[in-house]
Amino acid sequence: MWIAKDIETLRKYRSEAKGYVALVPTMGALHAGHVSLIRRARELGHTVVVSLFVNPTQFAPHEDLNKYPRPFAKDCETCIAHGVDGLFVPTVDVMYPPDVLDCEVNVPELAKVLEGEFRPAHFPGVCRVVAKLFNMVEPKVACFGMKDYQQLAVIKSMVQDLAFDIHIEGCPTLRQEDGLAMSSRNVYLQAEHRRHALGLSKALNEAKRLIDAGETDPLVVEQVMQQVMIAHHVIVDYAVLRHAHTLGELDIINPQLTGDIVALVAGQVGPVRLIDNKVMAQTL
Ligand code: PAF
Repeated sequence: MWIAKDIETLRKYRSEAKGYVALVPTMGALHAGHVSLIRRARELGHTVVVSLFVNPTQFAPHEDLNKYPRPFAKDCETCIAHGVDGLFVPTVDVMYPPDVLDCEVNVPELAKVLEGEFRPAHFPGVCRVVAKLFNMVEPKVACFGMKDYQQLAVIKSMVQDLAFDIHIEGCPTLRQEDGLAMSSRNVYLQAEHRRHALGLSKALNEAKRLIDAGETDPLVVEQVMQQVMIAHHVIVDYAVLRHAHTLGELDIINPQLTGDIVALVAGQVGPVRLIDNKVMAQTL
């Protein structure tokens, strides 16, 4: 497996790569969820490149940029074990050269709601780094987890509008046996908070149960999701039902009328802010 730390080296390896390149963009601290993205990338491309970069522009000053886990040696072992062909591990100066003026990339319509209300700089940072990675790695396919549902929607929209010739593959969320969605931030959860974190997946399951039982009022379902989260000591940021594609609000739960629906939840569990989602009808 090759490792490139700068763009010149990356482009040298890239020019020698066989067939379609499938990219898995990550911030490292790889877990089983990332491994499932790598597996999917291997199915879709001939050469698999993983990027490891903890992107500072998507963190607000008060967020966990400095303490974000960076187990580089372990991440390399994981990539080798799963047949990754190349790793791109740029430094901050490689991604954001100090002498270059900043460019803004964003999909404001999708980025300003939900996560965007709590983390206004997040999606502009994600769009900018992902657009840069696409231009540097030049993949034909890029795999993203559906756990970051809004991120996936924003990236799909960015790719469409900027006419990147790249297929964006959304991959299903991997969960622990008890339902907790896999996340690099789960390592911060002590036993008690680990139990509380189940409030998110339980709220989503309850929403699904109510909708399957015929509930048509989004407010009723949203209130029940909130109650489940609060009962698990989650400080709720949001617990909502939205249109699966536009992330717009719903007047009624009726996928035949409104198209697909997704339930999205976010909240603080002890020291960690967690997000999760469940598609109630078809997928994005
Ligand atoms: O989902 C992530 O890990 C990050 O947001 C991404 C897409 C790698 C951009 O930094």
